[in-house]
Amino acid sequence: MRLSAGLCISLMAIGCGSSDGSPQIQCPKGLRAVWLTEPVDGKGGVAECQAPLPPVDMDNGLLKPFPALNRPAGSLNSPERIELGRLLFFDPVLSGDNSISCAHCHHPDRGFADGLDFSVGIRGQRTGRSAPTVWNSAFNKEQFWDGRATTLEEQAKGPIQSPVEMDQKPAELVSELKKIPAYVEQFDRAFGGQGGSAVTFDNIAAAIATFERTIISASSAFDRFAAGDTSALSPSARNGLKLFRSVSTRCFECHGLPNFANQDYKIIGVPNVKDPTKYDADLGRGAISMDAGYNFAFKIPTLRNIEKTAPYMHNGIYHTLEEVMDFYAKGGGHDLMVPNLDDKIRKFDLSMSDRADLVAFMKSLTDESLTPEIPAQVPSGLPVLRSFK
Ligand code: HEC
Ligand code: HEC
Repeated sequence: MRLSAGLCISLMAIGCGSSDGSPQIQCPKGLRAVWLTEPVDGKGGVAECQAPLPPVDMDNGLLKPFPALNRPAGSLNSPERIELGRLLFFDPVLSGDNSISCAHCHHPDRGFADGLDFSVGIRGQRTGRSAPTVWNSAFNKEQFWDGRATTLEEQAKGPIQSPVEMDQKPAELVSELKKIPAYVEQFDRAFGGQGGSAVTFDNIAAAIATFERTIISASSAFDRFAAGDTSALSPSARNGLKLFRSVSTRCFECHGLPNFANQDYKIIGVPNVKDPTKYDADLGRGAISMDAGYNFAFKIPTLRNIEKTAPYMHNGIYHTLEEVMDFYAKGGGHDLMVPNLDDKIRKFDLSMSDRADLVAFMKSLTDESLTPEIPAQVPSGLPVLRSFK
């Protein structure tokens, strides 16, 4: 006999099948309930919430399946963990002086970045790099501009403890959260604890990472075009797509389908912000890999929602996509003599109308339909950064 849908919801993520076999858990708007483990004879299945991804049912060179989400063993995208992660992401209680949340540097109003050349952390401190977007970071094999974290779980622990970002001690954060009954209750429910036993630093990171795995952008005008709706792109954006895939610009070879990103680190020679006649001295991947061949290499970032995440590059040097186009057209860091410049970075001719078309194409990659709701309040009672205006 099947349990009633109401009872199923209260049983955490242990889903119960409906008459058509689909799981009956209640997912946040836009997400689908799917079986992580199918039930046997209608019993024992585990369900979770996932962002829908475009079906790949034909091969026209533009549709490519998204890779599996990067998630550690034991992760579960249950509604309870997603909701807890959402509250933690917007809660300044995560920082040492209760002043700043993840959303202060990754805000939905700024494409889950912050609109700054260099992010500003606790006590007004300037961080060393520009904040990348969280959109589709769940597909990254490695996190950060230099890939120094592998999972979102591991990544989330970084900014919380970083003295220039949130400057918080894990043990202090755990004891603060244990004093907030709503958090105690939600951690225990989401992770199966008792009397606050589930309030741990690992679970804080796990809940935030679970929430981030729902911040997925995959149904832009480009995606409709790729699926066969030719009217989804303007003639200008269509020409931009052609240019983007051309052997002269070679954009496509690095910013590849379907995420317009790549799991590799490349040297393109971004200039120094203070003296643009020199290349930026940030070693990037080189400092992590200890391989001098990677000096000045950075992760190839996603271009999805790129319209929303100015300024651009790891140092935020470009404030518009037009400036980015000018940089590439003149051969990237070619004239700056950056060592080991990638051989795909070469000068190309770019008329004003080609430039506008490439920018129109990049803007066709905007899709914020799965933007989560910003909580009106968080369990700590601290003020939520509701808007970034
Ligand atoms: C003070 C601003 C600031 C705060 C607060 C902050 N971040 Fe970041 N975040 C950054 C910057 C800057 C980077 C890039 C750092 C680097 O690459 O070295 C980054 C990188 C990331 C990335 C990697 C994305 C990618 O594509 O590589 C993720 C994910 C992320 N942050 C999530 C979070 C979460 C979750 C929190 C809260 C626990 C948080 N951030 C708090 C500024 C911030
Ligand atoms: C050799 C690989 C490569 C090629 C080819 C390439 N890119 Fe990039 N792109 C990168 C890397 C690496 C970065 C990040 C560099 C940094 O921050 O220092 C980047 C950054 C960007 C950014 C800024 C992203 C952000 O979030 O700040 C945009 C926009 C962009 N590229 C568009 C293009 C376009 C358009 C083309 C073709 C004209 C192109 N790229 C060709 C590797 C490449």
